[in-house]
Amino acid sequence: MRIGVYPGSFDPATYGHLDIIRRASRLFDKLIVAAMINGEKKSAFTMEEKVDFLKRMTQDIPNVEVESFSGLLADYVREKKACAIVKGLRAVSDFEYEFQMALANKKLNPELDTVFLMTEQKYLFLSSTIVRDIARHGGDITELVPEEIREDIMNKLDQTN
Ligand code: COA
Repeated sequence: MRIGVYPGSFDPATYGHLDIIRRASRLFDKLIVAAMINGEKKSAFTMEEKVDFLKRMTQDIPNVEVESFSGLLADYVREKKACAIVKGLRAVSDFEYEFQMALANKKLNPELDTVFLMTEQKYLFLSSTIVRDIARHGGDITELVPEEIREDIMNKLDQTN
């Protein structure tokens, strides 16, 4: 069975992530979406919320599983017997960082490959930070995050009412 792992901090997950998850789910027998701790970032949402959001927005994709993990991605992927990490690339500016991470992960686990999917054009501008910022100011996130999780994001972040 070919297993892929799509890691991210998903704080919160967006339509951009869902686009990558849908497309990657067609490339692997099983895709594990792994909400991970990014030590460089302070999270707005708890790990439980992130996993719950991801589960709700992927419930119609049968070969997707959602988990959380803290530790080294390369170790996690080995433990899950996955053959590849999936990452979305939004712009040339993402490339250098992603290339460095892919090489570091390969160093830690030489059998591991990273597969890059190009983010769909309409989500190129999107990031979790942008969603949080718009939500905090009471803006409209309809086109940025799936309906299943929209209200929960607004309830947690909107500071205008
Ligand atoms: N569409 C829209 N936005 C996207 C996107 C897409 N397809 N793909 C990514 N993004 C956004 C994310 O929302 C995120 O936004 P933010 O910076 O506002 O939070 C941003 O692009 C960066 O995403 P990504 O590069 O996936 O980083 P991440 O913080 O989500 O995840 C980990 C990074 C968790 C995968 C990484 O830190 C990790 O592997 N940690 C484990 C520890 C480890 O092994 N470290 C050594 C690695 S060599």
